[in-house]
Amino acid sequence: MMECSWKAILLVAFASLGIQYSAIKSLRKANAPCPSMPILNQCLQKDIKDNATRLLCEDINKLRSSHKEQTRKHIIIFATTRTGSSFVGQIFNQHPDVFYLFEPLYHLQKSFNDFGLQTEKTQKLIVGAFRDLLHNLYNCGFSFIENSLSWKPQNHIARSMFRRGVSIALCSPPLCDKVQKVESVCLRKCKPLNFTLVSETCLKYKNIAMKTVRMSEIIDLRTLVEDPRMNFKIIHLVRDPRGILASRISTFIDIYQQWQIWNTTGKQPRNIDFEQITTTCTDLSNSVKTGLSRPSWLKGKYMLVRYEDIAMDPIKKAKEMYDFIGLDWKEEVQLWIEQNTNVSIAIKEKYSSGNTKFSTNRNSAENSENWRLHLCLDIVQKLQTLCGVTLSLLGYKMVNSVEELKNLSNSLVEPRIFLPFT
Ligand SMILES: *[C@@H]1O[C@H](CO)[C@@H](O)[C@H](O)[C@H]1NC(C)=O
Ligand SMILES: *[C@@H]1O[C@H](CO)[C@@H](O)[C@H](O)[C@H]1NC(C)=O
Ligand SMILES: *[C@@H]1O[C@H](CO)[C@@H](O)[C@H](O)[C@H]1NC(C)=O
Ligand SMILES: *[C@@H]1O[C@H](CO)[C@@H](O)[C@H](O)[C@H]1NC(C)=O
Ligand SMILES: *[C@@H]1O[C@H](CO)[C@@H](O)[C@H](O)[C@H]1NC(C)=O
Repeated sequence: MMECSWKAILLVAFASLGIQYSAIKSLRKANAPCPSMPILNQCLQKDIKDNATRLLCEDINKLRSSHKEQTRKHIIIFATTRTGSSFVGQIFNQHPDVFYLFEPLYHLQKSFNDFGLQTEKTQKLIVGAFRDLLHNLYNCGFSFIENSLSWKPQNHIARSMFRRGVSIALCSPPLCDKVQKVESVCLRKCKPLNFTLVSETCLKYKNIAMKTVRMSEIIDLRTLVEDPRMNFKIIHLVRDPRGILASRISTFIDIYQQWQIWNTTGKQPRNIDFEQITTTCTDLSNSVKTGLSRPSWLKGKYMLVRYEDIAMDPIKKAKEMYDFIGLDWKEEVQLWIEQNTNVSIAIKEKYSSGNTKFSTNRNSAENSENWRLHLCLDIVQKLQTLCGVTLSLLGYKMVNSVEELKNLSNSLVEPRIFLPFT
């Protein structure tokens, strides 16, 4: 047999995986014959004939998967309101190795609003502050959050933070005496948050996930994504803007009152404000264009997911997201999805009152196109004019008649496959 430099071969193989050479020391197969290159491709095969190669591949694959495990992932669910982001957040919250935070930008945005700073001029500053806060949090720092709470914590102790109760990590030992998975029970039974302890606890988790609806465009994440200390995995969650609007009208009743009137009377109020939904659509299309143009800074870090596809088959989509991120599939995740997408348990989006605002239980069997029964054609057509680009980018069909709009047997969601950018 020809002698060969195993070190050199392994070095090449592992460099491509980003594994440190020092991790390979345990592999000493200097006497084995040289494999025909490339070794990593060989190791993907099922039946490896050569014994030495097989043994080596076993070692390599073991190291490979433990490496995959070891790298802390910074998962972000990037969305806008009423796109099912709470539901998707839960898909990650249920994983025992994930430290999950629900909308951590809430407090900071609130302080900006309280100061009357939410203007065009300060927008850049705010986005920068959001990024800094996220950076702080992804590294388990809670000092920024502490600073932005309106009730000032004493000795790092605060009664709560926004939606603490939906984060399993924040409602489990050592932050709570025992695991409380029901939001209201967590708030009632768990002790106040000690942010020093929150920080220590966070560091023990392998991965961190957050969901936010407060950044406008994917491009706003760029400087953060390119920071070599970060290991971002972006789930870009989108939904048909007509569905978003219908859901908002019934959820944020005060803000969308004029739309409600339009929908019920069939007459467009004169002072109706199109700005918000137009901005939503522009942000959506800009972000989708950025993501789908596959810029190098998003390589390995970006996956576009349509809410409608999740609703159609939540387990399948959840597995795809896990796969993309490199997270092991867990029984408790499967169970949670099954329980929370069941017709008889889950509460659907309601179109009559705001009761279920922010509910995380979304029904998969519920037709994700139910909005079609809750918007009049006029509104739908207006939206199609305002959001045409977004609709066609994401594969949502337009309608031109009441018959087309109301007949749910013809889906408006074109089958599209958006492969993760790996
Ligand atoms: C390879 O391993 C198998 C099973 O472990 C053994 O039966 C076989 O003799 C080995 N072949 C050589 C060439 O060592
Ligand atoms: C908060 O947690 C830290 C770290 O575990 C601990 O040292 C500190 O005493 C705690 N503070 C209070 C007031 O309990
Ligand atoms: C939904 O939940 C009910 C009550 O727990 C159960 O009887 C039923 O089999 C479930 N259906 C599905 C499709 O999981
Ligand atoms: C719009 O009006 C229709 C018919 O009156 C009603 O069924 C629907 O729930 C309304 N939609 C919303 C979002 O309130
Ligand atoms: C809805 O569309 C389907 C398929 O195109 C058609 O067979 C059905 O008659 C339509 N229903 C109504 C009420 O128009």
